Amino acid sequence: MKTLGRTKIAELLKSATGATVTVKGWVRSKRGNKQIAFIALNDGSTIHNIQVVVDLAKISEEELKQVTTGACLRVTGQLVASQGSGQPVEIQADEIEIYGVADTESYPLQKKGHTLEFLREIAHLRPRTNTFGAVLRIRHAMAFAIHKYFNDKGFFYIHTPIITASDAEGAGAMFQVSTLDMNNPPKDEKGAIDYSKDFFGKQASLTVSGQLEGELCAMALGEIYTFGPTFRAENSNTPRHLAEFWMIEPEMAFYDITDNMDLAEDFIKYLVRYALEHCMDDLKFLNEMYDKELIERLQGVCNTEFVRLDYTEGIDILLKSGRKFEFPVAWGVDLQSEHERYLVEQHFKKPVILTNYPKAIKAFYMKQNEDGKTVRAMDVLFPKIGEIIGGSQREENFEKLMARIKEDNMDMTTLWWYLDTRRFGSAEHSGFGLGFERLLLFVTGMSNIRDVVPFPRTPKNVEF
Ligand code: 4AD
Ligand code: MG
Repeated sequence: MKTLGRTKIAELLKSATGATVTVKGWVRSKRGNKQIAFIALNDGSTIHNIQVVVDLAKISEEELKQVTTGACLRVTGQLVASQGSGQPVEIQADEIEIYGVADTESYPLQKKGHTLEFLREIAHLRPRTNTFGAVLRIRHAMAFAIHKYFNDKGFFYIHTPIITASDAEGAGAMFQVSTLDMNNPPKDEKGAIDYSKDFFGKQASLTVSGQLEGELCAMALGEIYTFGPTFRAENSNTPRHLAEFWMIEPEMAFYDITDNMDLAEDFIKYLVRYALEHCMDDLKFLNEMYDKELIERLQGVCNTEFVRLDYTEGIDILLKSGRKFEFPVAWGVDLQSEHERYLVEQHFKKPVILTNYPKAIKAFYMKQNEDGKTVRAMDVLFPKIGEIIGGSQREENFEKLMARIKEDNMDMTTLWWYLDTRRFGSAEHSGFGLGFERLLLFVTGMSNIRDVVPFPRTPKNVEF
């Protein structure tokens, strides 16, 4: 298929030889001798470059000089079987047009390998590297697969709001949204900021999760999912936390916790299988460059049954492990990444779904168990990542939900609409949230979450 007068390299590498073709892309490297030049050109459609062979009789010395790493070109020529061993086909150039030069002195992406840390400082250019090309193509494929999975199952995609006035999710600190003059905000009689003068007439923030609105829609449409950006203003500088990340949150009427776990396991296996089936070229590259066990680990997850374990049993295993953890283990503590990874990587050597957490460490909306101590929460724990999914069955009983809210001294005035679903036609329901970038960490084998999002947002970092 021709796109705007060019054929993409992904297409050319599968095409029959003999035709005159046009490619447009960026130079990765140039080598050659006095008669001939070889240009490796990449257009982002695939990890593979196309080799352009230039007879120097057909190009002026002046032009050839401008063909440097990073320059953007149009090449028209014959697609022929390649003489070399690196590629099936190459282009014998008839015509080269230089769209944009890239000065060798100042273009930062010369051929040598760069560290991921350095590439983060030039995030505007790193999509041009093999690594970020691979990551971004996989990111796209996973986003597409997520919509396909749910669409095929009859789930409806719901757009939940990004600006919200409710902060009762308790998932994390929120970023405030305001148009007030920060240097001179209006004050009430008590000297507090008067939000009635603000844009929305009350205090508003960026959402930490679409779940609560998702629940409203599940109690009408049956099975829904959200897939959108979420924001957390925690000062966590770790390789697994972003201040802005994307989350997929399915929410289903008439599902109990077991149905919820079944869906989470099936969903994540589907996504990993999709990557293995559709992104193999990019995965092979990442496997070779960053993580020699990547493909094996992905296949392993598809072919294994996840362990399902009570939080209480998990704590027992950790206590009996004889391990000295940085954060001490006891019933009632929130598990740290080191605990989660011990269970997954050392003890079971496969993904674990941990359920029935102490209610004190989980959100108010989770369904309370009969024991009065635990709630029907479920976290899916993955090798290398720790928590990849967090979810629960929801408390559908109005009285029990209100009792919990009182216990926690929560102010529910901004959440009256959420409580209404428990007053009118309430039913058993469940859902979970998959962190999109955590999924991508797993699928790409990258070890820092800043390297699976094009332009990461973390504390003190909002460049690009
Ligand atoms: O466990 P969390 O906080 O759960 C919720 O937000 C629920 N409302 C989900 C639901 O039941 N609908 O977050 C869900 C997932 C985590 O398991 C993790 O994968 C990811 O979101 N996550 C983050 N990813 C990147 N950076 C952060 N700061 C993240 N915080 C959570
Ligand atoms: Mg969680």
